[in-house]
Amino acid sequence: MTAESRPLPDYAHEFDGRVALVTGAASGIGLAVAARLAAGGAAVALADFNEEGVRAAADEIHRTTGARTLAVRVDVTDPDSVEAAVRATADDLGALHLAVNNAGIGGESAPTGEYPVDAWRRVIATNLDGVFYSMRHEIPVMLAGGGGAIVNMASILGTNGFRGSPAYVAAKHGVVGLTKTAALEYAAQGVRINAVGPGFIDTPLLASADTVARDTLITLHPAGRLGRPEEVAELTVYLLSRRASFIHGSYHLIDGAYSAQ
Ligand code: NAI
Repeated sequence: MTAESRPLPDYAHEFDGRVALVTGAASGIGLAVAARLAAGGAAVALADFNEEGVRAAADEIHRTTGARTLAVRVDVTDPDSVEAAVRATADDLGALHLAVNNAGIGGESAPTGEYPVDAWRRVIATNLDGVFYSMRHEIPVMLAGGGGAIVNMASILGTNGFRGSPAYVAAKHGVVGLTKTAALEYAAQGVRINAVGPGFIDTPLLASADTVARDTLITLHPAGRLGRPEEVAELTVYLLSRRASFIHGSYHLIDGAYSAQ
């Protein structure tokens, strides 16, 4: 049997008995991650600002996978709301082993010298403060339960600049640094923490881009296309799994060679 013809391992029960929390799970990458975790056997809390969307997503994932799901309304810019969402997950699903801190917004496009201050605050509050608040409340619950794994959704813009997106780029660089620091702090206590850096992915976040901008974004990726949410989910779920047991504190690109140039 050649390596190519060997069947892929069956990961259908990889997360049996595990409880996961995914923020920003009503749409795009978060939705794909939640669905993939449920397909792997996890009970999944889907948390989002969009209450109706997240309830529909949780119902649909339960229907198609049979996994236990919970819809939670959360505003990641509010630490009390994040604390309540983590508590609801642990209370309703019995534990918290896995978390994906993914909720994020694109924000306005303007050069730094003209960037609206309120837009700056909104993007930093969602994309950076939200990841801190999430880890701030997830980590103690994971420690109390004997350990866990966290993935923070950064971006290729966690290491590269991008004209017109100073707040988004600053927030994503912050997420990478925060990930490394928390990973150092908890590596010996059984909580693995990593970041994922997607290139441009075909989700509603990009839907506002007009056709020209979308074509321009595609040309930035030597692979010749945008990424798919399911592709990011696959990497994310791998990092959460026991297969990644020695991967701590690192930032994993998935970008069609965008940043290899
Ligand atoms: P999306 O717009 O499809 O989904 C984001 C979700 O986050 C939405 O369901 C939204 O309701 C939720 N959300 C926004 N603000 C929130 C808040 N304050 N509290 C709770 N939920 C909130 O976007 P997408 O593309 O799936 O993005 C997910 C993550 O991936 C974001 O952190 C984004 O920065 C990151 N990312 C996206 C890329 C892309 O090209 N689409 C590229 C690299 C990273």
